[in-house]
Amino acid sequence: MTTGTPEQAAILDALKGIQDPDLGKDIVTLGFVKNLVIDGGNVRFVIELTTPACPVKEEFKNQARELVGAVPGVTSVEVEMASNVVASNPLLAKDAVPGLKNILAVSSGKGGVGKSTVAVNLALALSQTGATVGLLDADVYGPNVPLMLGLSGQPQVQGQRILPFEVHGLKVMSMGFMVKEDQPVIWRGPMLHGAIRQFLFDVEWGELDYLVVDLPPGTGDAQLSLAQQSQLMGAIVVTTPQDVSVLDVKKAINMFRQVNVPVLGIVENMAGLTLTGNVHGAAAGTRVEMFGPDGPITTEIGDGGRFEVVLDVFGKGGGDKIAEQFEIPILGRIPLDPSVRSGGDTGKPVTVAAPDGPIAACFRSVAGQLAARVSTVNMS
Ligand SMILES: Nc1ncnc2c1ncn2[C@@H]1O[C@H](COP(=O)(O)OP(=O)(O)OP(=O)(O)O)[C@@H](O)[C@H]1O
Ligand SMILES: [Mg+2]
Repeated sequence: MTTGTPEQAAILDALKGIQDPDLGKDIVTLGFVKNLVIDGGNVRFVIELTTPACPVKEEFKNQARELVGAVPGVTSVEVEMASNVVASNPLLAKDAVPGLKNILAVSSGKGGVGKSTVAVNLALALSQTGATVGLLDADVYGPNVPLMLGLSGQPQVQGQRILPFEVHGLKVMSMGFMVKEDQPVIWRGPMLHGAIRQFLFDVEWGELDYLVVDLPPGTGDAQLSLAQQSQLMGAIVVTTPQDVSVLDVKKAINMFRQVNVPVLGIVENMAGLTLTGNVHGAAAGTRVEMFGPDGPITTEIGDGGRFEVVLDVFGKGGGDKIAEQFEIPILGRIPLDPSVRSGGDTGKPVTVAAPDGPIAACFRSVAGQLAARVSTVNMS
């Protein structure tokens, strides 16, 4: 080594200054730093994370550039970000589905809280980060994922294998492809088990970082057996901010605990509806009062007469209560917004229809938090 060339130890020492907030250790100790090349003053390396959806990916990259750039002798730094999603423990089980690294259930205590909407958009948001993602609509009673993604018809079969549909980068399978529309399906226990097993084992999923499973609403026997059957890595529970919903969520959490499936977090859906408006000619700072269902909602006029209020149509604080009581994190809140509903109705979910909008950003944030939780649980 010529004089002035930085030492490998000095580079690694600098990189030890980067802490992974979820795993609680520095990235060198965690073994994330790979392929370190020191070429004169030029330093190149790869940071391999446990998920491409890592919420602090950009921060890590910037920190790495800065810290290594400050090591004496370093003239330039090239950081490549990579990822290798950690597989969950059930994969080590004898009868695990090969290739499916993490099977994640989206559930809720009661119906209509936006489970399918969250499952679809979360799967899309994860896939948009570069992860390989599948979506299994296991809602045998009311499969509506095909409609939400604009899919119809029957899946193709290749030999003994069922080929999933592919749309917006997702691999999708649904009970809806198997049954005629408008025909109620009456499932008995053993049939249900058979169907879920078939969806997991006989569908050509390939290698997936995450398989998101949309479970039917409720906490009955069917849900319990699905949770047991599908070798779940973990579950997320969707709730609205209102109290009734919160009661049902408790049931869902207890159900998963009963079968030893970790509840990774709560998604509060249909949180505040944001209304924006304009009072023409009004001076900035003028007080606006609206008469909300639970009392007055006040705000101030901003620049150009504009104002914004948030209406808590479905109440407020439900998710926080659950999070506190069960010590489960809130992965995020999705506002009540017409674009979410219309996305679901037209087969183009909001994360695809308006990827740069605020709602897509909410889903991306939830996806990041979820992926971080998955990594943390898998690495503990
Ligand atoms: N954040 C939101 N803003 C506006 N509309 C929403 C939001 N989330 C869901 N919706 C709408 O609410 C309705 C119910 O949502 P969804 O079908 O996802 O609920 P679900 O919990 O899966 O229902 P089910 O229990 O019947 O399976 C749909 O019309 C959907 O478009
Ligand atoms: Mg649903």
